[in-house]
Amino acid sequence: MAFKLLSSFVALAAALQGVSAAALNRRVACPDGVHTASNEACCQLFAVREDLQKNLFDGAQCNAEAHESLRLTFHDAIAISPALEAQGTFGGGGADGSIAIFSHIETAFHPNIGLDEIVEKQRPFIERHNLGVADFIQFAGALGASNCPGAPQLSAFVGRKDATRPAPDGLVPEPFHTPDMIFDRLADASQGEFDPILTVWLLTAHTVAAANDVDPTIPGSPFDSTPGEFDSQFFLETQLKGTLFPGDGPNQGEVESPMRGEFRLQSDFAIARDERTACEWQSFVNNQTKVQQMFQFVFHDLSLFGQNITDLVDCTEVIPVPKPLRQATHFPAGFTVRDIEHACAETPFPTLPTQPGPKTSVAPV
Ligand code: HEM
Ligand SMILES: *[C@@H]1O[C@H](CO)[C@@H](O)[C@H](O)[C@H]1NC(C)=O
Ligand SMILES: *[C@@H]1O[C@H](CO)[C@@H](O)[C@H](O)[C@H]1NC(C)=O
Repeated sequence: MAFKLLSSFVALAAALQGVSAAALNRRVACPDGVHTASNEACCQLFAVREDLQKNLFDGAQCNAEAHESLRLTFHDAIAISPALEAQGTFGGGGADGSIAIFSHIETAFHPNIGLDEIVEKQRPFIERHNLGVADFIQFAGALGASNCPGAPQLSAFVGRKDATRPAPDGLVPEPFHTPDMIFDRLADASQGEFDPILTVWLLTAHTVAAANDVDPTIPGSPFDSTPGEFDSQFFLETQLKGTLFPGDGPNQGEVESPMRGEFRLQSDFAIARDERTACEWQSFVNNQTKVQQMFQFVFHDLSLFGQNITDLVDCTEVIPVPKPLRQATHFPAGFTVRDIEHACAETPFPTLPTQPGPKTSVAPV
């Protein structure tokens, strides 16, 4: 009875203000006359999306620029260190756009090698739209990833504060760092949130990735046989026995890979076999739901390093829902479970089919 009275009172109050219940959830019409949004701050993103899809991502492709835009989100965001701040030194601002705003300084840092290219490709887009640089970098990465079949819908926020100073050097992980160094760096940057397990979740990004600069003689060498798909092949193929260097290796940060053309980072190799993370790594093989859910979760948090979510507007609705995967997890042709360096003591390696055909190579022909 009391509830009934209360709800009729609420209805009456709403009616008096000329607001209907439906209108309380109303979307705003954007000034472009085409789109609606949950918050008018999101309206500006539709034009940015259209421009990027057409003119950077080759018509919504999971292309090299999509991969590089995703890498850039990490290298901007990870440059924050409460540990340095505690020593009285500026520790960087996290996802604050500093890598593009101070690109002459930060892209010269060794771990940021090659990122000058995507920063310069993104710059004209930043100039012709009205979005902050920090927001732009995270938006472009989330949008680029959405072009990769199998990806989760990554979050997009607007309202971040842009950097007023460059991040210090030494905060971005290198492929020749030990698991301990990488786990410690992630824990520092995230104020303890990112443990070794969540670091594995972050490395899911290497499923849509290639190396250009660790071995500059073979630019564009992918980390798995399906760099255009946001799948779990990366987690499987990093557990195959390494047998060759695809280029002129060994280079610093590189270890042997299982097939021609494929590149393997020493850090991915080591974290896949570390006793703290090997079972978590293996658990992603053949679990696409996990690939999507865990990466969606960690990207959300990474993309907000150094920012306060209560000051931001969630515009994730502007990121398209990616297409589903085209292929199930498989051993690449020529490989079976006998080629796996099984590192998880608790759980047998999952049973998977082998793709038919001659031994897989991902080297350019
Ligand atoms: C935590 C330790 C990590 C290390 C040591 C590492 C290292 C590297 C290295 C050395 C490359 C190749 C660069 C080149 O030669 O062009 C690379 C590529 C890439 N990384 Fe990472 N990475 C890490 C984490 C991440 C994270 C968390 C993300 C994303 C959220 C990410 C996204 C990417 C992407 C998308 C590429 C491919 C870029 C392209 O295809 O051009 N990485 N990473
Ligand atoms: C896949 O991962 C999810 C999330 O961790 C888990 O709940 C589920 O049991 C896993 N599925 C299989 C088949 O292992
Ligand atoms: C984030 O902003 C809210 C509201 O402005 C404030 O109450 C909160 O303390 C801030 N959090 C941090 C970690 O600065």
